[in-house]
Amino acid sequence: MSKNQPEELKSVPQHIAIIMDGNGRWARARLLPRMAGHRAGAENLRRIIKACVEFGIRYLTIYAFSTENWSRPKDEVAGLMNIFADLLEKEVPELHAEGVQIRHLGKIEDLNPALQKKLLNAIDFTKENDRLVLCIAINYGGRDEIVQAVKEIISEGIPADAITPQVIADHLFTAGIPDPDLIIRTSGEVRTSNYLVWQSAYSEWLFTGTLWPDFDKENLRKAILEYNTRTRKFGGRTSEEKKEAYNG
Ligand code: FPP
Repeated sequence: MSKNQPEELKSVPQHIAIIMDGNGRWARARLLPRMAGHRAGAENLRRIIKACVEFGIRYLTIYAFSTENWSRPKDEVAGLMNIFADLLEKEVPELHAEGVQIRHLGKIEDLNPALQKKLLNAIDFTKENDRLVLCIAINYGGRDEIVQAVKEIISEGIPADAITPQVIADHLFTAGIPDPDLIIRTSGEVRTSNYLVWQSAYSEWLFTGTLWPDFDKENLRKAILEYNTRTRKFGGRTSEEKKEAYNG
């Protein structure tokens, strides 16, 4: 438990994943350009990373840019890439000081060379940190990830009867990272949008109407409290149910 962690958050999810949705609507409601919404979203991400460190969350995975997002207007795509590059450039020293390790999920080779370099530098610079692992999904798609894993498995010559769920998990971008316990989607959309398709098999989902730039530390605290009320079964029975069944 982190030393600043509030008493009521005794049982925090080990891994939280977020779909940071609603930047565009946040900007529109204020008659601002969409990019202002994305900038506010990026600002908010800094706050939420800090809150995660404070709450003792060990893994945070964020959906920054999906493989489908390339179909957005060219200016918006370029603007988002600039925000990512900017954040990586400016925030990494502070993240490093906080003990944050950065990982990337997605196909890095399609990103512009300058951004690739910044990502790789950030990953290398923070690789020894272990307070919070921040997985940034940029150019990520869950189905693509599985296809890529299957291709790798075949090219490694692994025989069909040796393929297990663990072998597949070991070939995903998230290799070595535990599955998300809680996945939050902001902005009122209620779908999973190709996010962590394999890894979310037993995750708890929380959909909130709050737009991403407004999703603050207090909202995160409430989401964790809501998670604590859920009973996870992983397809089986809870220990309470097992006891009841045993006692007839
Ligand atoms: C969804 O809002 C948000 C995105 C596609 C981009 C998220 C990016 C950030 C928050 C910037 C910070 C990220 C990193 C990794 C530095 P939307 O445009 O779909 O909003 P709308 O549905 O209201 O139009």
